[in-house]
Amino acid sequence: ALISLRQMLDHAAEYGYGVPAFNVNNLEQMRAIMEAADKTDSPVIVQASAGARKYAGAPFLRHLILAAIEEFPHIPVCMHQDHGTSPAVCQRSIQLGFSSVMMDGSLGEDGKTPTSYEYNVDVTRRTVEMAHACGVSVEGELGCLGSLETGMAGEEDGIGAEGVLDHSQMLTDPEEAADFVKQTGVDALAIAIGTSHGAYKFTRPPTGDILAIEQIKAIHQRIPDTHLVMHGSSSVPQEWLKIINEFGGEIPETYGVPVEEIVEGIKFGVRKVNIDTDLRLASTGAVRRFMAQNPAEFDPRKFLAKTVDAMRDICIARYEAFGTAGNA
Ligand code: G3H
Ligand code: 13P
Ligand code: NA
Ligand code: ZN
Repeated sequence: ALISLRQMLDHAAEYGYGVPAFNVNNLEQMRAIMEAADKTDSPVIVQASAGARKYAGAPFLRHLILAAIEEFPHIPVCMHQDHGTSPAVCQRSIQLGFSSVMMDGSLGEDGKTPTSYEYNVDVTRRTVEMAHACGVSVEGELGCLGSLETGMAGEEDGIGAEGVLDHSQMLTDPEEAADFVKQTGVDALAIAIGTSHGAYKFTRPPTGDILAIEQIKAIHQRIPDTHLVMHGSSSVPQEWLKIINEFGGEIPETYGVPVEEIVEGIKFGVRKVNIDTDLRLASTGAVRRFMAQNPAEFDPRKFLAKTVDAMRDICIARYEAFGTAGNA
């Protein structure tokens, strides 16, 4: 059944677990997520970005998610729009039947320029007004995601935009978070606590202090009824990097957020955990390996089935680690 983010995360908060939010662009990702949820009895958040809408087309994406709900009617599914850049974009998704939208007012309509606090409050408040009238939940974002290690804004290609953010913009302030929630009425809030988007988060193996746990605790204490969201939560599995590079890939040494640290974050109030990169890496590794080992094969179903297997295993591992399993 289709349910809102508010409904799903209220349950997660009551029982103290987290829910991974996987990005979806194609049939294989959708199948992997649903099969993993079915196997572990987990509720599902699937999210579609602007890039996903561009790739698959909004109607295909919408029907992909609706098809998942039809095939797995016993699993609660939240259909979430990731990183909306304006109230108008969110309105379109609400019209399409999404049960949750993210209004990311921390960045401008170009999706990359940091904005003022007043701008963020204004666009987010307007989105909440419209969405709540339709029974749709809203996620806002306060603070810009960056890497505390490199002092750079997260960049998907590994080339950081140096100097775009200063250190204070990179950690969400608890008092400002309280004011933001009061002024906007968001259901969930994405906070900057040391993660960044993409595969290139850290250049050295993490030593157990990636997340600003004290910050999470302080924010959660200030806004206990607003569900905290952690973007940039891929763990960048080293075993998949190895397979990619073994079979012709060239991905430089890089590290993500260890699963144990995410579990620690969930303990202190994180409820929605955004993951995209890990499934991308697993897919690429599975395709590269299959192609190298089966050079005469040309039926795409053969290598695409391998991507489903690879992604499903990661989804299962996250559902189990985050305590999502058993809560469908
Ligand atoms: O937040 C970014 C997500 O990983 C989605 O990426 O915009 O390339 O679809 P995308
Ligand atoms: P990753 O790039 O770490 O997978 O994060 C995805 C994300 O935050 C989508 O909004
Ligand atoms: Na989101
Ligand atoms: Zn994100």
